[in-house]
Amino acid sequence: MMVNLHTVTFNKSFTQLIMRILKIFSFCLLCSTIGCYYDVEEELYPTTGCSTDDMSYQNDILPLIDTNCYQCHDAANNFGGITLEGYDALKTYADNGQLVGVISHAAGFSPMPQGDPKLLDCEIEKIEAWISQGTLNN
Ligand code: HEC
Repeated sequence: MMVNLHTVTFNKSFTQLIMRILKIFSFCLLCSTIGCYYDVEEELYPTTGCSTDDMSYQNDILPLIDTNCYQCHDAANNFGGITLEGYDALKTYADNGQLVGVISHAAGFSPMPQGDPKLLDCEIEKIEAWISQGTLNN
């Protein structure tokens, strides 16, 4: 009788142990499955990032310059004697290479936007593409 009771108790806690291991295992399996899901998603959509076709001054470039540069370089706050406000003003710095120089933090140029993080790669690519597509006033 004593032995039987002991066996029952043993079996019960052994079953609990197995259940616990199974729970932990399936949790780990779930985690690694989620990990795989994201890996695959990244491989499937590698270029969702940056579209640089047909750049428009009005729609693509002006909003970037307005947001990141106008607080120091609009006509009123022309820090360093530099205004980037309006197409003609910006084109001057696009043509002389300073615009790409400062935003890509190239050697020999003051890194811009001053005191703020570098523009995103995609934003820099858009400005470079706008220039290589002819610096259009479009
Ligand atoms: C917080 C203020 C501030 C912001 C924001 C800022 N600039 Fe400037 N920028 C300055 C000052 C001050 C100077 C002059 C001193 C210097 O060259 O560092 C300057 C100089 C420049 C020059 C001349 C650099 C040279 O090498 O002679 C260019 C071109 C320029 N900025 C472009 C930009 C562009 C493009 C942006 C936005 C992406 C930007 N700046 C954002 C303050 C700013």
